Amino acid sequence: MPITIRPITATDWPAVWPILQQTFASGDSYPFPPDSSEADIRHAWLDVPQQTFVACAEDGAIVGTYYIKPNQTGLGSHVCNCGYVVAPAASGRGIATTMCVHSQATALALGFRAMQFNLVVATNTRAVRLWRHLGFEQVGVLPGAFRHARLGYVDALVLFKTLSPQEVKV
Ligand SMILES: CC(C)(COP(=O)(O)OP(=O)(O)OC[C@H]1O[C@@H](n2cnc3c(N)ncnc32)[C@H](O)[C@@H]1OP(=O)(O)O)[C@@H](O)C(=O)NCCC(=O)NCCS
Repeated sequence: MPITIRPITATDWPAVWPILQQTFASGDSYPFPPDSSEADIRHAWLDVPQQTFVACAEDGAIVGTYYIKPNQTGLGSHVCNCGYVVAPAASGRGIATTMCVHSQATALALGFRAMQFNLVVATNTRAVRLWRHLGFEQVGVLPGAFRHARLGYVDALVLFKTLSPQEVKV
């Protein structure tokens, strides 16, 4: 499926919100409370990040979204953090892979040197396998750090990748 990734625009939110709402309602991948309000998620996804993108299918339909922001302020601000969500109906077609590769190029263009994922839920095996496949190294396990909606306290992983312009086409 040819995927186009572009910056989110003001009119995209009504298509993005149901994807995020459905994903976060499961309480199995992101720490947003499953009953988060649209306003809270909109703020977290659009206002807090440095940039937010959408992934579009050939017909223009939004099938995924990601954000990028500094992982820390000040002396830690050269490391970025990203969050990715793919519409459940569009999973397994390489959309997250495309977004992650795009985000690494975006990160380098914005001056970041590395990317860190702080809370990858250990039971989210699809995501864990995908990030490792894309060159992220597991640098830590946070015991019981995620309160999974169905499984209770489960481990969360910290993943890190030093970005290389040689590997990622900027
Ligand atoms: C986890 C998530 C981001 C994965 O998105 P995705 O678009 O399904 O991921 P991809 O399609 O790029 O990769 C998933 C699998 O499809 C395979 N794949 C890649 N391109 C493919 C293609 N063109 N056709 C078929 N399969 C493909 C990948 O190899 C990968 O295989 P694997 O599971 O054996 O490793 C998505 O399921 C999601 O949004 N989940 C909820 C939120 C979440 O967990 N976000 C990440 C938090 S850390």
